[in-house]
Amino acid sequence: MDIYLVGGAVRDTLLGRPVSERDWVVVGADPATLSALGYRQVGKDFPVFLHPQTHEEYALARTERKVAPGYHGFVTHHAPEVTLEQDLARRDLTINAMAQAADGTLVDPYGGQRDLKARLLRHVSPAFSEDPLRLLRVARFAARYAPLGFTVATETRRLMRDMVTAGEAASLVAERIWQETVRALAEPSPRTYFEVLRDCGALTVLLPELEMSEQRLRGLDAAAAIAASTRVRFAVLLRELGTDLTPLEKPPLPIANEAYGVAVVHAVCDRWRVPTDFRELAELVCREHLRVHHALELPPATVLELLETCDAFRRRERFAELLEACEAGHPEQLGLETLPYPQSTLLTAAFAAAAAVQLTATDRTGLAGPAIGLLLRERRLAALTRWRPTFT
Ligand code: CTP
Repeated sequence: MDIYLVGGAVRDTLLGRPVSERDWVVVGADPATLSALGYRQVGKDFPVFLHPQTHEEYALARTERKVAPGYHGFVTHHAPEVTLEQDLARRDLTINAMAQAADGTLVDPYGGQRDLKARLLRHVSPAFSEDPLRLLRVARFAARYAPLGFTVATETRRLMRDMVTAGEAASLVAERIWQETVRALAEPSPRTYFEVLRDCGALTVLLPELEMSEQRLRGLDAAAAIAASTRVRFAVLLRELGTDLTPLEKPPLPIANEAYGVAVVHAVCDRWRVPTDFRELAELVCREHLRVHHALELPPATVLELLETCDAFRRRERFAELLEACEAGHPEQLGLETLPYPQSTLLTAAFAAAAAVQLTATDRTGLAGPAIGLLLRERRLAALTRWRPTFT
C-alpha cells in the first residue's frame, strides 16, 4: 500500500502558498485494510477514510465514469489495482492532478508543474466536462489565482463553452452554485469569477442580470480592495442590478427603479437559496444606497429616519456593512478606492451621537412604552441637531 499527498496541498506548496487542508490517496489497498489500521470510513458514494489521529481524508484510488446527467450521475470504481495515474486522470485541472510520495517525489503525469509555471488553469482530459460543478470551480480558482497571473487555458475555455451549450450549467443546483459563489466572493479577485462564467456563457444561465453590468464588477474590485466581508461583496454585486437598463426598459419613476433593484435581489436570493443575512444586507443596500450617498445633504430628521429604517441601533454591525457596501459600490468611487468617502464618516459619527442618548429613570417616570419611544426619538433628534447644526 502506498500513500500520496494530492490535490490542493501539492499545488499550493509548489506555489509557496499556505496549505489549509491535506488530502491523501491510498493505492494498493482495500477498505478492509484501512479499517483494520484504525481508519474510519466516511464516504457514502466512494470510500473515503479519516486518519485515526490526524482526521485528514484518505481516499482509495478510484476511477469515475459518467452514466447519467448531473454531478451525481457517476459510477466510481475502486480496487487495489487502480493506479495513481488513473486516479489523477479523473481530476479537474492539471495543477490539481499532482501527487507527492512520502519521500517527497512528485508524481505529475499531466503537466501540472508546467502549467503552474505558465500560470494556466488547464483541464486534465475531456472527462472534465462530465462534472458541471467544474465550470464554477475553474471560475473560483481563477478568482483566487488571477493576482498571480493565472488565466484559463484557451482549450479549457472552449471546452467550458461546449459544456454550457450542451446545457450543463442548467443542471447545477442552487446549493452548489451558492457554495462556490460565496467562496469565490472571498477570493482576492471576485470579479474574475463572474468574468470566467460570462466568457463560457454560464452567466446567462446563472445570473443573467449581471451580464451587461461592467459597473458591478468594478464595484467588486473596490469591495475586495477594502477587504470587505463576503456579505458586503455580495450586496455590492447585486446593488442596482438591472437598473442600468435601456430607457425603454426602465421603470418611469426613480422609486420604481429602486423597487426593481430590490426585486432583482429577491429573485437572485430565491434562485440560489441565499442565507438570510446576505439577503437582508443586499436588500438594505439596494433600498438605501442613494440616501447614504446623499448623507451630506440630509437634514437631521432624515438621518434619524435612515438610522431607524436600517435598524442601526440594534444592528450596528449591519449598519457598518451598509456603509462599506455604499462606499465600495458607488460609481464615483469605482477605480478610486483610496478616495475618502465622507458620507460614511458622517453617518458613523451621526450614529454614535444618536446612540449615546440615554433616558434616565426620571425621564421615564409616568411614561408608558410608546411615549418612552417618542421621547427617546425626540432626544436623539435633538442630539443630531446639536451635533451638526449646519445640517441644511
Ligand atoms: N476535484 C476534482 N473535481 C471536483 C472536485 C475535486 O477533480 N469537482 C479534485 C481536484 O484534484 C482537487 C481535489 O479533488 O484538487 C480536492 O478537491 P477540493 O478539496 O474541493 O479542492 P482543492 O483543490 O483542495 O482546493 P481548495 O484549496 O479550494 O480546497
